[in-house]
Amino acid sequence: MASLLSLLTVLTVAQPPTPNTSYKPPVPLLPPPGLLMSAVIFPQTFGGAYVISIGVGTPPVNQLMIIDTGSDITWFQCKPCNCYQMPGVFDPLNSTSISVVPCDSSACNQLQRHSCSKSQCQYEVDYLDNSFTNGSLVLETLTFGSTAVLNVLTGCGHSNFGFMLGAHGLVGLGGGPLSLATQLRVHGRAGIFSYCLPNLHGGLLGWLNFSLPNVVLPTGTAWIPLVRTTKIKTHYHVELSGLGIGNMQLPIPQNSFKGGAIIDSGTTYTYLPRLVYEAIRNAYLAKTVNLPRAPATSLFDTCYNLSGLESVQVPNVSFFFSAGPILTLQMWNILVEQERYVGERIFCFAFIPTSDVTSIIGNTQLAGIQTSFDAEAGYVGFGPSICGPPESSPHCHGHWPPRRSIALENYIPPNPLFLCLFTCFYVLIISILD
Ligand SMILES: *[C@@H]1O[C@H](CO)[C@@H](O)[C@H](O)[C@H]1NC(C)=O
Ligand SMILES: *[C@@H]1O[C@H](CO)[C@@H](O)[C@H](O)[C@H]1NC(C)=O
Ligand SMILES: *[C@@H]1O[C@H](CO)[C@@H](O)[C@H](O)[C@H]1NC(C)=O
Ligand SMILES: *[C@@H]1O[C@H](CO)[C@@H](O)[C@H](O)[C@H]1NC(C)=O
Ligand SMILES: *[C@@H]1O[C@H](CO)[C@@H](O)[C@H](O)[C@H]1NC(C)=O
Repeated sequence: MASLLSLLTVLTVAQPPTPNTSYKPPVPLLPPPGLLMSAVIFPQTFGGAYVISIGVGTPPVNQLMIIDTGSDITWFQCKPCNCYQMPGVFDPLNSTSISVVPCDSSACNQLQRHSCSKSQCQYEVDYLDNSFTNGSLVLETLTFGSTAVLNVLTGCGHSNFGFMLGAHGLVGLGGGPLSLATQLRVHGRAGIFSYCLPNLHGGLLGWLNFSLPNVVLPTGTAWIPLVRTTKIKTHYHVELSGLGIGNMQLPIPQNSFKGGAIIDSGTTYTYLPRLVYEAIRNAYLAKTVNLPRAPATSLFDTCYNLSGLESVQVPNVSFFFSAGPILTLQMWNILVEQERYVGERIFCFAFIPTSDVTSIIGNTQLAGIQTSFDAEAGYVGFGPSICGPPESSPHCHGHWPPRRSIALENYIPPNPLFLCLFTCFYVLIISILD
């Protein structure tokens, strides 16, 4: 299902602003300064997306939510519901903290697509994979750990369709006005958050943190300016200027990068303009001629058959940004295992060509690399590679970019801790469903 969910990005429909000052949504009530608002990210993806568990409503009901920096609206399936299959649909009648948002509010007018039903604001979001959600815009309490945030603008999704397998809804962390990241203002500053998507083979939990800048923003980060495009505020857009193997930039014509790149945690793999894709794929192939190949899949044209191999040397892929920093990926960000070959070890080069000029940097490529945003100041930061407690993972060496070349060493047997977390996660789901 990864392929189907792989383009989880909002389609934007230009709409003239219709300002209305008669209604202002209450300011979200923030945790005291210094208190971390944090959610665990599970080391398992559903349909290629990462999920967190947060409490929705009062009393809080646990909901598994996809984390998506490529869209703004936070929503959950909501009764009465024309829902996709996922037990544990939120019942607004059970919550004492939910309130409706009127149609003539500025919040309603900030929605890209909205309508009015019985004077209540209705939202609609369509994703590129044809998933959609449709329902009432509401104010509701969201609880992260023990920290409750009141009056968050969210979607109570009464009509939802798509490939959000294993999730009750989605947390929108884009740069637009209605995104959760934008609503959580800290001392007047919006869009400050940091996450580390766990490496699926490392067995560690990741986390999503919101807090004061000096608490949440890590040291050892390479900061890259966000490009302020006037078109789509939602997207975190950076100026990508090249790709390379290790620190060697490939000679790719600069105008192939004119569309820049979007950082999208809701997209599974990285999409590159075809010419750029072919250049990096060919360079990668040239460095891996000694590895046994496997047939192409519907998504990937470059696969390797590593069955029976204990350890192999693979090159690393780097992104070069106009601002200077180089983001060097680790092996698990480059080769993904194809699970349908039971008992075999088939890995594919996890990049996909697109006819679009804009690249999308997906979650596979950023797993294990802490990714931080200071959206209002206009920066995204990569690193360090500390997804979970540093030093305790065989794959997280506590520094970024990695200093040594990458080997798929001891890659084959899954970590027992991972198996535990995997099992615990199902136990968690089952307990939620009960
Ligand atoms: C709503 O509350 C009722 C009564 O407390 C309970 O039986 C029901 O399971 C709740 N529904 C949900 C979806 O939480
Ligand atoms: C969204 O809901 C409205 C009102 O219920 C309906 O008219 C519209 O067709 C729905 N859109 C989708 C995509 O289901
Ligand atoms: C994010 O939150 C987790 C869990 O509370 C914590 O372990 C981690 O240090 C935090 N990260 C930063 C950069 O503050
Ligand atoms: C991997 O990246 C590092 C820089 O981070 C570089 O020194 C090293 O040569 C690269 N390895 C290969 C095989 O390209
Ligand atoms: C992978 O290689 C093994 C032998 O090492 C072979 O038995 C198997 O059929 C190959 N699988 C694919 C998909 O190429």
